Amino acid sequence: MVLPYHAEPATDFTKEENKKAFREALEQAKNDFGVERPIIVGGEHIETEDKITSYNPSDKEQVIGHVSKATAEHIDQAMEAAEDAFESWSEWDPKERAELFIRVAAIIRRRKHEFSALMVHEAGKPWNEADGDTNEGIDFIEYYARSMMELADGKPTLDREGEHNRYFYQPMGPGVTITPWNFPFAIMTGTTVAPVIAGNTVLLKPARDTPLIAYKLMEVLEEAGLPKGVVNFVPGDASVIGDYMVDHHKTHFITFTGSKATGLRINERAAVVQEGQDFLKRVITEMGGKDTIIVDKDADLDLAADAIVNSAFGFSGQKCSAGSRAVIHKDVYDEVLKKSIELTEELTVGNPVDETYMGPVISKKQFDTISEYIEIGKEEGVLKIGGEVDDSKGYFIQPTIFADLDPKARIMQEEIFGPVVAFAKAEDFDEMLKIANNTEYGLTGAVITNTREHWHIACRKFNVGNLYLNRGCTAAVVGYHPFGGFKMSGTDQKTGSPDYLLNFLEQKVVSEMF
Ligand code: NAD
Ligand code: ALA
Repeated sequence: MVLPYHAEPATDFTKEENKKAFREALEQAKNDFGVERPIIVGGEHIETEDKITSYNPSDKEQVIGHVSKATAEHIDQAMEAAEDAFESWSEWDPKERAELFIRVAAIIRRRKHEFSALMVHEAGKPWNEADGDTNEGIDFIEYYARSMMELADGKPTLDREGEHNRYFYQPMGPGVTITPWNFPFAIMTGTTVAPVIAGNTVLLKPARDTPLIAYKLMEVLEEAGLPKGVVNFVPGDASVIGDYMVDHHKTHFITFTGSKATGLRINERAAVVQEGQDFLKRVITEMGGKDTIIVDKDADLDLAADAIVNSAFGFSGQKCSAGSRAVIHKDVYDEVLKKSIELTEELTVGNPVDETYMGPVISKKQFDTISEYIEIGKEEGVLKIGGEVDDSKGYFIQPTIFADLDPKARIMQEEIFGPVVAFAKAEDFDEMLKIANNTEYGLTGAVITNTREHWHIACRKFNVGNLYLNRGCTAAVVGYHPFGGFKMSGTDQKTGSPDYLLNFLEQKVVSEMF
């Protein structure tokens, strides 16, 4: 019997034995620095001349490893392999597919620290964030495996005298998974395994900055006995293979997580029917956020400051869910700002190997973008703390608070994706809500209040996919907080929800007259 789903517990790093085990894993991971990994097409490991080099963002000269790059020709081969594999994989009993993936989760669980340690080095994740990323990946696998078991026999329909009806689900064909660097294991794993557990086959294109952690998933899939060609690993330059994968006439679905610009491009291109294509492509785009925490006049102000600081600065604000705007009632504005600055003063920034609260930002490109926004913030608001940037060794940016922003200021409107939070003052709850809804995004938000009626209003009017009461706006848990945004944050298909696998299934009705 398969046990009921529960979320993977976080590792308790206050325990000395866990600390010791993790330090060993961090050291162990260094033995692989400089490793060369292939692309994988139809189970074949292929080395190419041209490689992606993955660097440590904490120590920018340090090479984590190299990964071969797929070309358009490899995409054609991978698509063919995925199409061939689909023939048999789609015929597996759905419960047997699910069981294979429960084994995948078990293997990762046994090697958990190895995965998390690699993310500390490759993505600059602090220990707890890396551990959370691995755990979330395991959760996605366990959760979707059970979802498939529940969907395996279809759903009941009505019969009539002399007529028997059945309603069931079937997979679609090969598709494409395109993933970001910020949850390089969890999102990459979740969006790869969901379509596969549903019986489809996939070409996985991981983010350029974090291909090595993605390769680890491939190792486990092979070890668990996933048939060749079911998941094809095709890292490469988005400018070379991105459009090509999306446009491919054999691509049945695209599951994408990343920026708004790329998501919109994919959405548009996927709508074009290519020669040889006799179906419509399904598109899932999970895109950016500009997430707001609003603080009411009767709120617990310590809780408010804690929620703002941790939502803004956890993983250096590099989460689509990061709280990058704090909108605060005028009566408590000064106090919440003061408390938030005090908490921020305590945060440590540095190489996360040394157990800092914040590590670096992921790349030179992100470092430059965030630095520019800090300059814009200095023009638009009042710099209260932080603002210093240093890329002499790695890409480090101090946690930064700007105060007294106009709600329409650029740093109140545009996704920064770094450790920068903007504070704005409001007259009353109505105005707070209005400001919260004044961006093009609609991903997450939080309300810190003790007025129940205000919470009820926010539930209806705060226009985001994930809304939280009296806590921060990050850290959704698979199965507990299905995750996805409104407006320009995406197509809102809610990862980690009971409905997610339906995105990768066709619904069939068979009606028989007796
Ligand atoms: P990005 O859009 O630059 O890249 C995401 C992926 O798309 C990468 O694998 C990239 O190589 C690929 N890509 C780029 N151009 C492409 C093209 N033309 N065709 C196909 N693929 C292409 O985003 P990023 O910088 O990796 O990630 C950060 C963004 O992701 C932020 O905006 C963040 O908010 C968002 N994000 C959203 C969610 C969510 O659930 N809504 C979760 C995590 C991250
Ligand atoms: N699902 C992630 C969170 O909630 C992005 O923080």
